[in-house]
Amino acid sequence: MIPHAPWFEEARFGMFVHWGLYALPARHEWVMNREETTVEEYSKYFRRFDPDLYDPSEWARAARNAGMKYVVLTTKHHDGFCLWDSALTDYKATNTPAGRDLIAPYVEALRAEGLKVGFYHSLIDWHHPDFTIDGVHPQRNAADVESLNAGRDMDRYREYLHGQVRELLSNYGTIDYLFFDFSYAGPGHDEEFWGGKGRKDWDSHALLAMVRELQPGIVVNDRLDIPGDFVTPEQYQPAGPMMLDGEPVTWEACQTLNGSWGYDRDNLNYKSVDLLIRMLVDGVSKGGNLLLNVGPTGRGSMDPRALASLEGIGEWMALHSRAIYGAGASQFTSPPDARYTQRGDRLYVHLFAWPFEYVHLPDLAGKVEYAQLLNDASEAFLKEVDPGQQAMNMTPGGQPPGTLTIKLPVQRPDVAVPVLELFLKPSASDSEALHG
Ligand code: GLC
Repeated sequence: MIPHAPWFEEARFGMFVHWGLYALPARHEWVMNREETTVEEYSKYFRRFDPDLYDPSEWARAARNAGMKYVVLTTKHHDGFCLWDSALTDYKATNTPAGRDLIAPYVEALRAEGLKVGFYHSLIDWHHPDFTIDGVHPQRNAADVESLNAGRDMDRYREYLHGQVRELLSNYGTIDYLFFDFSYAGPGHDEEFWGGKGRKDWDSHALLAMVRELQPGIVVNDRLDIPGDFVTPEQYQPAGPMMLDGEPVTWEACQTLNGSWGYDRDNLNYKSVDLLIRMLVDGVSKGGNLLLNVGPTGRGSMDPRALASLEGIGEWMALHSRAIYGAGASQFTSPPDARYTQRGDRLYVHLFAWPFEYVHLPDLAGKVEYAQLLNDASEAFLKEVDPGQQAMNMTPGGQPPGTLTIKLPVQRPDVAVPVLELFLKPSASDSEALHG
């Protein structure tokens, strides 16, 4: 748990929004890097950025209806374009056809829907004239890269970075969450290829100290190349509860709908609603959060395909959110094809495959008072095995001693992931609920 922000692990589910100039090329937010676009070439998007359908209260409603509790928007991505009216650059929404600060209405809209407010901020900047050209930079292969690099000064860039973060955390009231992105120094990075930018380049310790001073309640991620409040597995599901230096650590997986963060028109690699819900459940069963991304279009509205996914998740959350909010990993071991989440004396069995009439729960015999299907609160019968039957191997399915068997209807409830809610006896729940 993050002691200064217990809401974060309570919430379990948030929305990531990648939105900026790259919505116009509509072929991934790294388009500038991938196509080695110069700042001049890229400026055609700056001149055309006109999000006439931008209505952050619609984004906020979509998030809330999906069961999400917080939203995180790219204030600036790697292309350097700023969505707010920064005093430190001209490369901002105010100077595009959008003609206004786009962050202020976003913050307001989230608050109106009771959502926590998150910012993503890129440490990397492919527009700033002082940001040195390294292996990740769009100009990395330019013939005149040496002369392009001459005179670039990371000290000046660092001042800009700190100044912009100061603006963002001073001008919009309480900000609950900050996602810095990203460092590529040290082990695991080919320093020669990437150019190795990390904590020295950002002066991460001073930056983080400033963040905490300006927003004492904020949670900050781990990509400053120094530890933050939580770690951020990206586009994969961890194998189990995450550890850092032998200690359990707060974590949040960020996942895409289709592999791209920014709007990517022709990418059809959409995850199904069922898969997305399983990802959420799987994460919570391992004590983590899910930050699920959408990439709005250049006009500022949500892609209908993203909206459909959010609605599908929302339908499930409307019936099952109490198996998610405030829940975490359980000490009990779930049967195959299922995940457990636990909140106090409630143990939730998320059935990824519908069993053959009986589900067998190891080591839970004698520990459960009552069981029901969560979608409709219909009772599910407990079948505890008596030792006589056990001796004759007459237990349902020949399960080992200590197994609790629950009888299920033949008909699978018509929900993406059916969930059993078990009410544990006090003796079973006291010591065994695990969080984080
Ligand atoms: C990456 C990418 C990026 C995306 C982010 C989300 O590091 O650079 O485009 O914003 O991950 O976690």
